[in-house]
Amino acid sequence: MLRLNLKCVLSRFSAAPVSFEAAHRYCILLCPRVPLADPARRCTSTPPFVSSPLRTLYTSPILQDSSTFHRLPAMALPAEVKLGFIGGGQMSKSICLGLIEAKSCEIDALWTSDTNEKQLSHVKRRGVHTTTSNLDVVKNCNVLILCVKPNIISPVLNEISQYITKDHLVISIAAGITINQLSSLLPSRTRIVRVMPNTPSLVGAGASAFALGDHCTSQDAELVTLILEAIGSSVAVNEKDIDAVTGLSGSGPAYVFLMIEALADGGVRSGLSRDIALKLATQTVFGAAKMCLDTETHPALLKDSVASPGE
Ligand SMILES: NC(=O)c1ccc[n+]([C@@H]2O[C@H](COP(=O)([O-])OP(=O)(O)OC[C@H]3O[C@@H](n4cnc5c(N)ncnc54)[C@H](OP(=O)(O)O)[C@@H]3O)[C@@H](O)[C@H]2O)c1
Repeated sequence: MLRLNLKCVLSRFSAAPVSFEAAHRYCILLCPRVPLADPARRCTSTPPFVSSPLRTLYTSPILQDSSTFHRLPAMALPAEVKLGFIGGGQMSKSICLGLIEAKSCEIDALWTSDTNEKQLSHVKRRGVHTTTSNLDVVKNCNVLILCVKPNIISPVLNEISQYITKDHLVISIAAGITINQLSSLLPSRTRIVRVMPNTPSLVGAGASAFALGDHCTSQDAELVTLILEAIGSSVAVNEKDIDAVTGLSGSGPAYVFLMIEALADGGVRSGLSRDIALKLATQTVFGAAKMCLDTETHPALLKDSVASPGE
C-alpha cells in the first residue's frame, strides 16, 4: 500500500508516474544527511527533536472534533525581556503569534516594525506594539529578531547599527547570512545569534536550530532556548550546519504541505470528496509525525510496519 501511495505522491510532484525506487531516491535527496539507505545509520539515529520535551500536540483546525492546541505550559520569559521583531512578514508573525499563544510573555513586551503597515495588522489586533519605524523597536526592546528577507539585512543594519548598545541581543533568522556578515554591520562585540525557525512555530510546533556568536553568554543561550521552546523544539548547532537546517526544517514544512496536498489529490482522484480527502491526509501526516516522536522509533521501521508483505 505504501509503495502505491508513495508513487502516487511522487507522481503528483513530478506530474508523471515514477517508480518506487525513484520515489525513495527522491526522499533521500530531501534528507541527504541521514540517508535511509545507509544500513549502519538506519535504526540508530533518532530525530533531534525527540530528545526535547514534547511540548505540543497540535490538532489542525480542519479536524472538526478538536480545534485547539494541546500543550504543556511554556516557561515564561524573564520580565525584563522586551522582544522586537524587525520585519512583520510570515516568519515574524509565526514566532510572535506563537509566543502569544504560548502565553510565554506579556503582550506589552512585544514590538513589531514593518515598512509595510498592512503586514502589522495581525499582531496589532493581538495587542502587540506596532510601528513602521525600525528605530522605535530598537529603542524599546533589548532582544531584536531580524525577520526581513536576506537582501534587506544590510540596509536594515545600516539604519539601526548606531543605536545598538551592549544591552541588545541581536537574533537573525535570515537564511544564508552568516554571523560574520552580521557582525561586520554591527558594533564590535555585539551579541549575535543565528536562528533557523520554521512556520509551525505559529501553532507551538516549530522546529528551530540556533548558533551562537562569539560574544554571546550562557544566559543568551538560555534565553534563546526559552524563546524557541515556547514555540516548539530547538537544538543548538554549529553555524556551519545552519544552511543544512534551512534546507531541512526551515523549508521542510513546504515539502510536507505539498505531500498533504498530493495525498489528498490522490484521494480525490480515487473518488473521495475534497473535504474528506484533505482531512484524512492531514491527520495521517500529523499521526505519522506524532508516532515518530512518541515511540522514538526510526521511521524506516514504522514504514515497514505499514508496508507489510501482502498476497
Ligand atoms: N518563511 C519561512 O518559512 C522562513 C523560515 C525560516 C527563515 N525565514 C527567514 O525569515 C526572513 C523573513 O522571511 P518571510 O518569509 O517572513 O518574508 P516576508 O513575509 O516577505 O516578510 C518580510 C517583511 O519585511 C518587510 N520589510 C521589507 N523591508 C523592510 C525594512 N527595511 N524594514 C522593516 N521591514 C521590512 C517586508 O515588507 P514588504 O512585503 O513590503 O517587502 C515584509 O513584510 C527571511 O530572511 C527568511 O530567510 C523564513
